[in-house]
Amino acid sequence: MQTTTTHIDTSCLMKSRPDPCALVIFGASGDLTARMLFPALAKLYGLGAMPERFAIVGVSRTPLDDESFRKRMRQSLEEAGIFDAAAWEVLASRLFYVVLDYGEQEGYLRLRDTLAGLDERLNLGGRRLFYLATPPQLFEPVAEGLGLSGLAGKRSRDSGTRLVVEKPFGRDLQSARHLADTLHEWFDESRIFRIDHYLAKETTQNILLFRFANAVFEPVWNRHYIDYVSITSAESLGVEHRAGFYEQSGVIRDMFQNHMMQLLALVAMEPAPSFVADMVRDEKVKVYRSLRPFDPGRLSQDLALGQYGPGTADGQPVQGYRQEQGVDPQSATPTFAMIRAFIDNTRWQDVPFYLCSGKRLPRKLMRMVIQFKTVPHSMFRNVLGDSVSSNRLILDVHPDQAISMSFQVKRPGGKLCLRTTALRFNFTENESEPSLDAYEKVLLDCMLGDGMLFPRQDAVEWSWRYFTPILELCEACSDPGGLVKPYPAGSWGPPEAPAIHPGFAGDVG
Ligand SMILES: NC(=O)c1ccc[n+]([C@@H]2O[C@H](COP(=O)([O-])OP(=O)(O)OC[C@H]3O[C@@H](n4cnc5c(N)ncnc54)[C@H](OP(=O)(O)O)[C@@H]3O)[C@@H](O)[C@H]2O)c1
Repeated sequence: MQTTTTHIDTSCLMKSRPDPCALVIFGASGDLTARMLFPALAKLYGLGAMPERFAIVGVSRTPLDDESFRKRMRQSLEEAGIFDAAAWEVLASRLFYVVLDYGEQEGYLRLRDTLAGLDERLNLGGRRLFYLATPPQLFEPVAEGLGLSGLAGKRSRDSGTRLVVEKPFGRDLQSARHLADTLHEWFDESRIFRIDHYLAKETTQNILLFRFANAVFEPVWNRHYIDYVSITSAESLGVEHRAGFYEQSGVIRDMFQNHMMQLLALVAMEPAPSFVADMVRDEKVKVYRSLRPFDPGRLSQDLALGQYGPGTADGQPVQGYRQEQGVDPQSATPTFAMIRAFIDNTRWQDVPFYLCSGKRLPRKLMRMVIQFKTVPHSMFRNVLGDSVSSNRLILDVHPDQAISMSFQVKRPGGKLCLRTTALRFNFTENESEPSLDAYEKVLLDCMLGDGMLFPRQDAVEWSWRYFTPILELCEACSDPGGLVKPYPAGSWGPPEAPAIHPGFAGDVG
């Protein structure tokens, strides 16, 4: 019998296979490890993208041993629907667990002994990746514990030891600097990987390729041709079980300081001399440095804040933010923000960038819209009046992963009529090529030591600097209804939003 095999092209999967190493996950008893990190590592293993020799060491306070930790991780794969018995045999044999209280040295010494044993047994070359999957208040104690126990290794750039930090990177400029100072005591900046998984999504990564690997777009990617840029990250979910965190954070800290700023930089940055991590990150920082400082005097033109009230989600009635468990019934925490930002440089002078993110909006949507200007002179005005629409480029990141460019065509018939149509490219069309999801990509890059997709400390600080006046306004707001306007769950934000960006409904429609 003849069989046909489908050839899967894996040539674009990874630059190279990472060197042998031990991955040490702090907070391994938690949600992130079970739902994201371990399934991502298992998938990388299945794709042949893990190092030839590796160990995964879970670390946290919960009293587990190797076997019970393996059981949990097996369950996480089963729940993710990716359990593979043959792969599991190998993965389980590489899984270990160390009980450790984050503030006590003794645990770090035990961890050091375990890692030394694994190094010897598995020939890992002393390379270690410490992943801090813990609540943020533990980042500093863990870095210090690693440092004092000698686990941070040398502080030089060529050390094989790396530190991976989950957001938030501080809660304001001062705390971000404090965190960085502590981390830098033990880890050189080049060895710190700050996760922003938005950057690792295929469609996000494609923005730079789209802009700079195609000759046709770059000449029109500026103030002469672009009317505005809008970046929207909408969620239909409410605060869910994260009320404690969200009450302290709000939408600006949760979404804008990190993800929205990263997306803005990709759309607005200049081409780097070379596709090298620090060169690309330099260009992003230049965007942040060029941001026109937010002016509280122009509040009504530049900022709309909202908080969801009772309404609907997926056709079902849902409660408002203040009724959610764990939320202060008088809370003034914003769950929605729209900001009009400007970048004061030659390319973007006076082009508005509308940044919008919120919870309990009608649907999940992550989209960037590049709205071009109308033609300078319409020769069809005598026939069509002012009805000629301008071109619009839509970069959809989620749930669609697509790029579409709208343009005008003539409708068939003897009378001159126009309609708008679109050229559309869908990323998911070529599914035979294996792709990496966001956590798979960031974990692989951390193991490879490639910092391209990880925000550098100077970017973090410039971003906090921009948002400081907005956060100060939020924090000084004693009248919950004054600055933060209510909007019904299931709507596109408070009525003030369209006043900031009149084209908003069209952008998300
Ligand atoms: N979960 C996600 O989907 C997600 C997504 C993006 C970013 N993140 C970030 O990733 C990190 C980890 O997230 P997570 O959801 O896994 O967190 P988590 O489940 O709340 O915490 C992880 C582990 O940290 C330990 N821990 C929790 N609170 C502690 C406390 N107050 N003192 C000491 N130890 C404590 C617990 O382990 P032991 O008690 O066993 O030590 C817990 O299992 C956070 O920084 C979060 O912001 C998470």
